[in-house]
Order: sequence, then C-alpha cells, then structure tokens
Amino acid sequence: MCGIIGYIGGNVESNLYLGLERLEYRGYDSSGMVIKRGSNFTTYKATGVVEKLKPTIKEVATFGIGLAHTRWATHGGISIENCHPHFSSCGDTALVHNGIIENYEELKGDLIKKGKYFYGQTDSEVIAKLFDCKLNINNLRRVREKLIGSYALAIISKNSDYIYFAKNKSPLYIGLGNDCALIASDPSCFVGFADSYITLEDGDYGKFSKKEVIIYDKNNKIIKKQPEKLDFSFINEELSGYSHFMLKEIYQSRIALEKIIEVYQSYAMKEKLEILKNKEFDRIYLIGCGTAYHAGLIGESYMRDAFNIDVFCEIASEIIYKNLNIDEKSLCIFISQSGETADTLSALEYCKNRGGIVVSITNTEYSSIAHKAILNFPILAGQEKAVASTKAYFAQCIVLYIITNYLKGIDYIFPLQNFKRQIDFGDDNILKSLASKLANFEKVFFIGRKRDYITAKEASLKLKEITYIFSSAEPSGELKHGVIALIDKTVPVIVIATDEKVFNKTLNNACEIKARGGKLILFTTLNIDNEIEKAFDFVVKVNKVSQAFMPLQIILSLQKLAYFTAVAKGLDPDKPRNLAKSVTVE
Ligand code: AGP
Repeated sequence: MCGIIGYIGGNVESNLYLGLERLEYRGYDSSGMVIKRGSNFTTYKATGVVEKLKPTIKEVATFGIGLAHTRWATHGGISIENCHPHFSSCGDTALVHNGIIENYEELKGDLIKKGKYFYGQTDSEVIAKLFDCKLNINNLRRVREKLIGSYALAIISKNSDYIYFAKNKSPLYIGLGNDCALIASDPSCFVGFADSYITLEDGDYGKFSKKEVIIYDKNNKIIKKQPEKLDFSFINEELSGYSHFMLKEIYQSRIALEKIIEVYQSYAMKEKLEILKNKEFDRIYLIGCGTAYHAGLIGESYMRDAFNIDVFCEIASEIIYKNLNIDEKSLCIFISQSGETADTLSALEYCKNRGGIVVSITNTEYSSIAHKAILNFPILAGQEKAVASTKAYFAQCIVLYIITNYLKGIDYIFPLQNFKRQIDFGDDNILKSLASKLANFEKVFFIGRKRDYITAKEASLKLKEITYIFSSAEPSGELKHGVIALIDKTVPVIVIATDEKVFNKTLNNACEIKARGGKLILFTTLNIDNEIEKAFDFVVKVNKVSQAFMPLQIILSLQKLAYFTAVAKGLDPDKPRNLAKSVTVE
C-alpha cells in the first residue's frame, strides 16, 4: 500500500522512475516525483499506473535529490491533488508517505484553525502541513511526536542536502551505494545502485546524505546500524518471453520447488528446523491473510494428519477477536509472502505479547515479519510481482509440508523430488478454450471436499481478483444446505476432485447441480471412466501425484484458468483494479 523512494545521486529522474516501477506492486492509483536541484523543486504527478508519469518527466542527467511515490488510495480519491509528494504551506518542504495517520482529522482541524490550506483529502498532506519552513531533526522529532498511526516518511527541503526520514509500522530501508544513497519501502529498489542496506526499526528517524547516515531511535538516542549485504538474486524484472508476470510466476513454481529441495537439505536449514523441533508446544496456530491463509489451511491439514495435538488455522485480521488460548505452549506460524502485511504483523504482536512461540514463513527474509519472528523459514520463490499470488502459495505449502515432516521425523526430500518430476501445469489449449467460455459468465462456483475445498477457496480467490467475475467456494456437501438455490443454467460450477476416497460423494453433489441445469466443469487428477466424464460439460485432467501434493498439482491449472480468463476479458492480470501486492494497512 503505497511505495516510497528517495534518491541522492546522478540521473535522479530516471533512477527514481526505475524505483517507482519496482514499487508499483504496492499500488498504482497515482504516482509522483519531486526533484531538488540547487534550491528549486520540480514536481511531476499523474493518476493511474506509473507508466502515465513517464511522459510528464523532463530528464536532467545531473546530480539531484529526489523523492517519488506510488499510491494505493486510502484517504481521498484518485486525483492529482491527492497525489504525493505533498508540500509544507510555504512550499519549501516536500514529503512522501506510506501508512495511515489515525489522528489526521484532529490534526487537520487544528491546522485549518491556524489558517493552513489543504489541496486534497489525504492524511499524508496533514503531515506535510505540520512542517514549518525549516526542515531539521528537531522539527522532524516534533512532527512525529504528534502522529498516531503508521508511517514511512521521506522528506526533503529546498534548504538541505539531506533526505530526512521516519518510520513507524511501515517498512523502510536505506540503501548505500558508491555514487548514491537511497531510501525505499523495499530494498529491491536498491538493486543496481547499492550493495548494502540498513533496515530501519519502528521509532527510528534521522537523515542521510551521500556521505553519512544519522539515525535516532525511539528514545532519541543516536544509534549505529550494521548494513546488510543486498541479495541480487531475488529481483524478478524481466518477462522472459511471457506475456505477464503472473504466467511466468506460475511456471516458476517448479524453480521454487527445486530451490527449496536444495536449501532445505542444507545443514543451516536443518539446524533451524531442529531448533523448532526442540521447542515445547502443545498447540499450533497457522496465521495469514488471503492466499497465505489458504496455504495455512493446507498446512493445517498436513499437521492434523501428522500430530496428535490441536492445530488451528486463523485469519490474521480476526485472531484478536477470538479469545484464543495463546500462551508459551502455543507455536504460532505466520505465513506471508511479503512479510509486511499489516494484519499479519498485528496478529504476530498479539501472539508474541501472549507468550506464543512466533515463527514465520515468508518470501522476504529482510521483512518486518521475518525480523520479528524467532525463526523464519524462507519459501525461496524469488520476487513475486503479479498481485495475484501463485508461486508463493505453492512454495508456502511445500515449506509447511517440510516443517510437518521434519517435526514428525519423516523424510521430505525423496517425496519432493518425486513430485518435482511429476509436476503438470495443465494443457494450455484446453485451459484457454475453457477460459474463453468462462469469460462470458457473471458468476462461478467452485466446490470440493477435504483439501479440494481449500483448493476451491484459493482458485475462487484467484478468479475473482483478476477477472472480477463473482465467484464463491463451497464445500461440496454444503450446496444442498442453501447455496444450490443460486444454481441455474447461467452458473458454471467447477468441481475439484483429487481424492479418490471422497470422489463418489462429490460426484453425487455434482449430479445435484446438473439436475438444476448448472454447467459442470471437472478439474481432476483421478482416472475416471467415460460414463462419469459424460456427466460433465468440460473436463480438465492433470497427472496424479501423491495425495499430499494433489492440491499443489491441481492449483497450477486453476491459476492458469484464472489467468487465461482475465486475458480473454482483455484485463491486465498483473495489476487488478483496487488491489495492491503488499497490504500494509489494517
Ligand atoms: C493473493 O492473490 C492476494 N493478492 C492476497 O490475498 C495476499 O495473499 C494477501 O494479501 C497476503 O499477502 P502476504 O502473503 O504478502 O501476507
């Protein structure tokens, strides 16, 4: 939700623009840039995707100091007035902000009484108006003391050659290069510019130039931070012949699996798993949002089958309302691709405060969630750019499978190697032909039993987020308890069947749909006879694998179905409307 970048160095316009492209996954409602040369500001703003900003920018290939921002609107509509950067009343100070200022209305009221004028409706403009014309550390300290909420702030002034910054609950990093210095919401922006970076903590604030970095902690003490080496392998910038990142990333599931097999055999990783095994717990909670929550459900099914203790999977934003029994004996596993999801972070703090053993599974080892957990298990999927999560889901489930097997004392390498050989991404022609039909419907249901119901939930989320078709996932057995009222010839139902043991029951539920005129589509890994096949209007078959990996095998085709349907509707699957990749507001 919003990405910020600040840069001090040469070619400032083009380097900031590259940073914006890298941050676009955080929101693409509008973008903006301010450049300081001498004591002048030049500002660019545009609504819509980052590409819209490009034609407005006049490249000046000389040294400069600049800030840029890509917005996911929270307060105030999508307009130029609400576009960052925002300026102090005198116009000498400019800032970009990621986060939400909870007391902004109260602050705004006071500022209006003092005669300050507001151009837009954002909470961020309120911060800008809190600055006097002189930007210095005392002013910054004074302003941040007034703010309640989350913020990653980068601020420049016409009278200073530093970029000032402050962080609370929104990610912020400083990149250190030979010829430049940067600040950004995500260290992936530093690739090509810096070889090391500093992770800022909540409460940190300060300033930096090309020559020095001065950081104060929440107690107003100057602190020294050890820079970490930047890992270049994470970045995923090229489409490599694919039409969209989503399709590329679905196929990268296999690479993620290979990497996981390699790394999870290493001594270092086994040592980590051993530390986990030696913890004493009598309950397990798996916690995440959206797709990461669905991966948690798959993990829950693995763990319930393997252990004799209670295992619960919870939605991060709901956990605090549930009065759950979380204490020192609770193993709390937080799953998050980005490692920055605000709801998941809050749930993590909640469980930590109750004494829970807090462990994470993330794709970003530098992230806030990974930092706050006592152990982080990386999913090694490489950067996921498309908003719809695909390879991360696949890799999260694999890591959950490994954790389950390690704790149980069962080999995981051999089964994973076997699975790697049997991965089936589905037949493109069949999936495209189904997608072209599906694109004409307004609503779709997904049904399944046991793990197939979890797959139904994930497939349904994928379809709705990138095609805007209404879709819902139901346990097959539940239809007759109400939802079947919605079935008629205008409603396709996608039946997911990968478990032989419950196939007959699922088939009965499918027949109930057929009897009401619904269109039936089967996604299966099972060998079904011709008579059964005839009951369906469309059948997608993928190769059978061992039962534990069935949900991962079948989801690949379902992800591609969502992708091809979005393409058939002329939509951009990588940047669905109203969404952002990293959801850093609660
Ligand atoms: C998935 O396709 C979604 N875009 C979304 O549900 C996502 O999984 C969720 O916001 C959690 O993100 P995280 O894994 O980065 O925490």
